[in-house]
Amino acid sequence: MSSLHERHLAVSPGWLTLYYKNPLEITHGEGRHVWDADGRRYLDFFGGILTTMTAHALPEVTKAVGEQAGRIIHSSTLYLNRPMVELAERVATLSGIPDARVFFTTSGTEANDTALLLATAYRRSNQVLAMRNSYHGRSFSAVAITGNSAWSPTNLSPLQTLYVHGGVRGRGPYAHLDDAEFIAACVADLEDLLGHTRPPAALIAEPIQGVGGFTSPPDGLYAAFRRVLDRHGILWISDEVQTGWGRTGEHFWGWQAHGRNGPPDILTFAKGIGNGMSIGGVVARAEVMNCLDANSISTFGGSPVTMAAGLANLSYLLEHDLQGNARRVGGLLIERLRAVGAASDCVREVRGRGLMIGIELVKPGTDEANPQAASDVLEAAREGGLLIGKGGGHDTSVLRIAPPLSLTIPEAEEGAEILGRALRAVG
Ligand SMILES: Cc1ncc(COP(=O)(O)O)c(C=O)c1O
Repeated sequence: MSSLHERHLAVSPGWLTLYYKNPLEITHGEGRHVWDADGRRYLDFFGGILTTMTAHALPEVTKAVGEQAGRIIHSSTLYLNRPMVELAERVATLSGIPDARVFFTTSGTEANDTALLLATAYRRSNQVLAMRNSYHGRSFSAVAITGNSAWSPTNLSPLQTLYVHGGVRGRGPYAHLDDAEFIAACVADLEDLLGHTRPPAALIAEPIQGVGGFTSPPDGLYAAFRRVLDRHGILWISDEVQTGWGRTGEHFWGWQAHGRNGPPDILTFAKGIGNGMSIGGVVARAEVMNCLDANSISTFGGSPVTMAAGLANLSYLLEHDLQGNARRVGGLLIERLRAVGAASDCVREVRGRGLMIGIELVKPGTDEANPQAASDVLEAAREGGLLIGKGGGHDTSVLRIAPPLSLTIPEAEEGAEILGRALRAVG
């Protein structure tokens, strides 16, 4: 009898990669812990790629899903759907976008695809500005705005994309500048770029780049970009698929770190809101959302079971101030990780905010990315009972730490200790 891993390899695409030399089958979870098929328990610092937002097996979400599934699982957007309208109302208010309209999809990719459809139709232009080192999803349109070659499997594209500087503070041609000079250089570059092209439809950006290794510009860059974009009528799309719902601690949305000039024109979300149920969505003011002059639906977008999960999950998040918890516990965790990182020759930088923390690894004594060390630390952490993620540009040398937002202080301390041991074991 073949192992599950062998069966996976025999039927799955070769590009659907798995973590770990001996890949893990997770059979159940509770709180911030998961268990594998051998019954071993792990502290989960990755939440299925920042998607288990509140906690595993949160009773409030499980109950809402069960009750809704017992009533009706599907009706389609052809009929009124109470949980969908209720969640749309809450997201519209939380978005900060005036006269907001909300469209639900089943993934972040489809949310970004919708944002691109809206922006290109609204502006009658298929030219888009995206950030270097970005990731926005896996579809034909999303990989066309992905500035990370490891995740962009084709250069055939429905869009004309221009990649802008600024998403990565610590590397690249402007890394040596101070924050104000960095912002000024990126703005000058954007102005120069716009002087050489026909006006693009939109700029799409992750406030903190997720897959790219939790890199971000100095606060205020997107506000400065906004002033330039506004002069040209170019829309700003904030991809909040990883940064939304309070994960960054200080802010509910990642754009708020830049928000002196108000909210983006279009906001996309996914991952955490469903706590694992497949919810994505796009928010835009009515004038932009309603610019399409043909019908459009998503058969599964906004389905009652996922919406019931989203409502229960969002209520729990807000009622338990998990944003505040992300700020407090994330602050402590980053301090512990900085202390652990200072003792390792491999650690170039520990960065992030709230419960979105990256540890960039290099070859000792150099500035060269160290993907082997990242893989080795991932393995060693697992051995120690801790699941983390990794990311970064094409060389994947950043450890990504993004636990559920209900993380406790003892769990943060335990995780930092395991990571410290893993880093020491690797060098
Ligand atoms: C910032 C960002 N946008 C979009 C996506 C795509 O979301 P999904 O995998 O749900 O299609 C991801 C997925 O990792 C992401 O990190």
